[in-house]
Amino acid sequence: MTTQSCLVIVLAAGEGTRMKSAVPKVLHEVGNRPMVAHVLELAREIGGDRRAAVIGPDATALGAAIGAADPEVTVYLQNDRLGTAHAVLAAREALSAPAGHVLVLYGDTPLMTAATLTRLRAALDDGADIAVLGFEAEDPTGYGRLIVDGERLLAIREHKDASDAERAIKFCNSGVLGFRGTLLPDLLDRIGNDNAKNEYYLTDAVALVAGEGGRVVAIAGDEEEFLGVNTRADLARAEAVFQARRRAAAMAGGATLAAPDTVFFSHDTVLGRDVVIGQNVVFGPGVTVDDGAVIKPFSHLEGCRVRARAAIGPYARLRTGADIGDGARIGNFVELKNASVETGAKVNHLAYVGDARVGANANVGAGTITCNYDGFLKHHTDIGAGAFIGSNSALVAPVRIGDNAIVAAGSVIVTDVPGEALAVARCRQNTIDGRADDIRRLKQAEKTARASTEKK
Ligand code: UD1
Ligand code: MG
Repeated sequence: MTTQSCLVIVLAAGEGTRMKSAVPKVLHEVGNRPMVAHVLELAREIGGDRRAAVIGPDATALGAAIGAADPEVTVYLQNDRLGTAHAVLAAREALSAPAGHVLVLYGDTPLMTAATLTRLRAALDDGADIAVLGFEAEDPTGYGRLIVDGERLLAIREHKDASDAERAIKFCNSGVLGFRGTLLPDLLDRIGNDNAKNEYYLTDAVALVAGEGGRVVAIAGDEEEFLGVNTRADLARAEAVFQARRRAAAMAGGATLAAPDTVFFSHDTVLGRDVVIGQNVVFGPGVTVDDGAVIKPFSHLEGCRVRARAAIGPYARLRTGADIGDGARIGNFVELKNASVETGAKVNHLAYVGDARVGANANVGAGTITCNYDGFLKHHTDIGAGAFIGSNSALVAPVRIGDNAIVAAGSVIVTDVPGEALAVARCRQNTIDGRADDIRRLKQAEKTARASTEKK
């Protein structure tokens, strides 16, 4: 990769009114991460050692979210929305420092890839003054058209300013432009706003530099990468592309997806080898699944770790802080939160385990609940290694069940149970021989009496 330093400016001052949202457009999420965070991550990945974002006025929340996504970003305000060149100039302070390359990206275009942007950087390394990423548009309406002469890019004509002949061109500007840094900001200062939109077009830099004999090149990428999000429908399309890529990457990395189209990943999902994922599985943020684990159909996971060879589901819900040990088993309709289930332990059916540890090889029976919340505070439950918790028990936290202890089914446990002990906490059973038939006769008589009253 290049040794030149690189300033990346992300334009995020778009109003996004077509989203009809209280949330700034670029904070809408793809793969459970704001679009602008995808772009900033990409900027870092391609070696953008200095990163800046330009946002609109009254965008305090946006500025804070950008800072949270990437603390090294300098945020600049563009108070009036006067065009893309004007937006870049809002970061004038960053431009005045010596910079090798300056790349301009849009914050609402989350699907660009490092491979394509690296090709743009390579063109600058090879001596281009400006390099532009273009694509063949299926429908070029609205885009700036790239006017080329062989290898050379002569101008970018915005749709509204283009002649009919120019509008027939399908090679379009993606919006991603790279500059030899020393050209800026003087070049931007020379751009006027004498055009159909009365905006300062960043794209006018191309004709200025090309007209003075500078080297301006267009690099072709794939249209899909440059999908800009303006509406909720665009957002759904971006999500679909993101998911398709993640599914392909999961399979290429050695995971089996029984029905790829029904599995949904987050931007940060980590899968080991030989992981098997069944149909209709959803990964929220922060999930790591180690080698050989199986996630059975209809499971929902977020903020959790599933260790090697563990089996989850079907129909399991792993919430934040769940840590499932090697070979452990979590079965159907089990919810776990902030709970570690150690090696070989089993929580197989219909249980809630929250704020707890389940020791190695322990068995938590069907219907068991850790009562972790008293209406005010959360409390911890500790289940020792090899313990057996009978079905339908309520473990009222804080409480400890010692190693190898047994809790009888249906118990409500409110005090600690020592290791190796048996705890029974329920009413003693009373069995009366022959009483069943008495009850049946009694009930039949009651039913007959009621039927005859209703007839009258
Ligand atoms: C722009 C390009 C066009 C390209 C298209 C690709 C210009 C003049 N035109 O057109 O060649 O084909 O993108 O999608 O650059 N922005 C600001 N401040 C402003 C104006 C815009 O931050 O004052 C930001 C917007 O938030 C957006 C980006 O710049 O992310 C592009 O602006 P937009 O108005 O969408 O430009 P287009 O007309 O789509
Ligand atoms: Mg646009």
